[in-house]
Amino acid sequence: MSVDVSSEVTVFLLLMFLLLLLITWSRTHRRQIPGPSFLAGLGPLLTYSRFIWTGIGTACNYYNNKYGSIVRVWINSEETLILSGSSAVYHVLRSAHYIARFGSRTGLECIGMEGKGIIFNSDVHLWKKARTYFSKALTGPGLQRTVGICVSTTAKHLDRLQEMTDSSGHVDALNLLRATVVDISNKLFLRVPINEKDLLVKIHHYFETWQTVLIKPDIFFKIGWLYNKHKKAAQELQDVMESLLETKRKMIKESEKLDDDLDFATELIFAQNHGELSADNVRQCVLEMVIAAPDTLSISLFFMLMLLKQNPDVELRIVEEMNTVLREKGDGNLDYHSLNVLESFINESLRFHPVVDFTMRKALEDDNIEGIKIAKGTNIILNIGLMHKTEFFPHPTEFSLANFDRTVPSRFFQPFGCGPRSCVGKHIAMVMMKAILVALLSRFTVCPRQGCTLNSIRQTNNLSQQPVEDEHSLTMRFIPRATQFPLNHIFSQEM
Ligand code: HEM
Ligand SMILES: *[C@@H]1O[C@H](CO)[C@@H](O)[C@H](O)[C@H]1NC(C)=O
Ligand SMILES: *[C@@H]1O[C@H](CO)[C@@H](O)[C@H](O)[C@H]1NC(C)=O
Repeated sequence: MSVDVSSEVTVFLLLMFLLLLLITWSRTHRRQIPGPSFLAGLGPLLTYSRFIWTGIGTACNYYNNKYGSIVRVWINSEETLILSGSSAVYHVLRSAHYIARFGSRTGLECIGMEGKGIIFNSDVHLWKKARTYFSKALTGPGLQRTVGICVSTTAKHLDRLQEMTDSSGHVDALNLLRATVVDISNKLFLRVPINEKDLLVKIHHYFETWQTVLIKPDIFFKIGWLYNKHKKAAQELQDVMESLLETKRKMIKESEKLDDDLDFATELIFAQNHGELSADNVRQCVLEMVIAAPDTLSISLFFMLMLLKQNPDVELRIVEEMNTVLREKGDGNLDYHSLNVLESFINESLRFHPVVDFTMRKALEDDNIEGIKIAKGTNIILNIGLMHKTEFFPHPTEFSLANFDRTVPSRFFQPFGCGPRSCVGKHIAMVMMKAILVALLSRFTVCPRQGCTLNSIRQTNNLSQQPVEDEHSLTMRFIPRATQFPLNHIFSQEM
């Protein structure tokens, strides 16, 4: 009897010892990756809280600054790596093992992105299908129409500047850019009559819901008074899209003969008719195409206008370049390939003050990055914004076109990402920004409110970096230039 007890005790002690060994081993093993410690479960709670309270972007910068270019944290108790070193980032961007994203499943269902659309669709099969439609619309022949549409639409909105000017002579520049950009997107991809103002408000609310629900715990979605208004905001934009698509279907039915190059929405409707895509998926794809530019490009342009005013020498160089290029092409045709200063300015703006600061991915296979084991299922955040300020550039924390004097190797500058899950709009976005800036700067110079700079306006860095829109700080005066350029002939130009 006593023998039995002592052997049981021995076995028990041995097991405890093994368990201890295992825990120590896994701790030291984990400690290979810098990051806050586990602290019996408190660590995951604390890191998650930081992401929720300060916003995803702000939290990422905090952790990379504190622990280095590879950090392990937890989001919703899932292990998450934040990478800001260019070689690790480049590895993930180009690899086929990281083509999925992560986020709360219920949250993504709320905004219609779970298994649908493209941006946060992690159903690889359906994502690939959607991506072919986006690629087709955003590259190749579609690009050629873009310049003309951007220039004429920008001009149209500038002609109506009076309507948007307040009594002190200021214009809400961000909303002017949003209205211009959503108008352009509609003309390129959907081509139905829209109520611009109403649509923009709903896009804005949808975006707020998106950043609110993206990494929330499941309990959030069970608390009606917290969740319902967000659910409603998402639904409202989905309803608008459904009715715009209904109009589009009617227009297709009634038209005798379709153009040779079909627009994005028409291609999707045909895909649905052929049983290729579900109606819900078609609606989500159109929704995402319509919100993509207003959520990113218009805010980038707004930051660029602020930066121009803070760097008058740069504005002078850009205007001189436009002037020279236009004069050389006496017929008013603009050769966008030779607008080098403008392109450097756009690049430097995207580097120095990005809207999209990071991108979220998920490891679909076990992998190894610079000797660190990545387990399948690990969440990955690529902190591209910080990468642009810590590597390669001669003046990393200053705004200076000299940063683009030298050709930048692609691994060090990735404002749109690269590889299979990169920004599918990266080429058209550059074309659109150039065309809109040329159309705007050839007629006006802008002047933000006294004392308003990029540093002084309030901003959040949640899902993306955005100005806070509750004050007048975002308004500007638009001052006509003394000499204006003839831009009316450049409609058929390619950039
Ligand atoms: C200044 C403007 C823009 C910036 C800085 C930007 C940046 C980005 C970045 C960093 C990503 C994530 C890439 C990755 O995970 O590697 C992305 C994704 C995406 N962008 Fe853009 N973008 C811009 C404009 C646009 C425009 C104009 C469109 C479409 C008209 C667009 C459509 C998309 C789509 C559909 C995705 C998701 C692609 C996928 O998941 O397969 N973007 N963008
Ligand atoms: C993050 O976004 C949500 C939705 O727009 C907002 O309510 C919240 O205040 C934001 N957090 C921060 C820290 O800006
Ligand atoms: C701007 O950045 C792009 C990459 O996004 C690069 O291909 C291009 O050469 C850069 N242009 C200049 C003038 O540096």
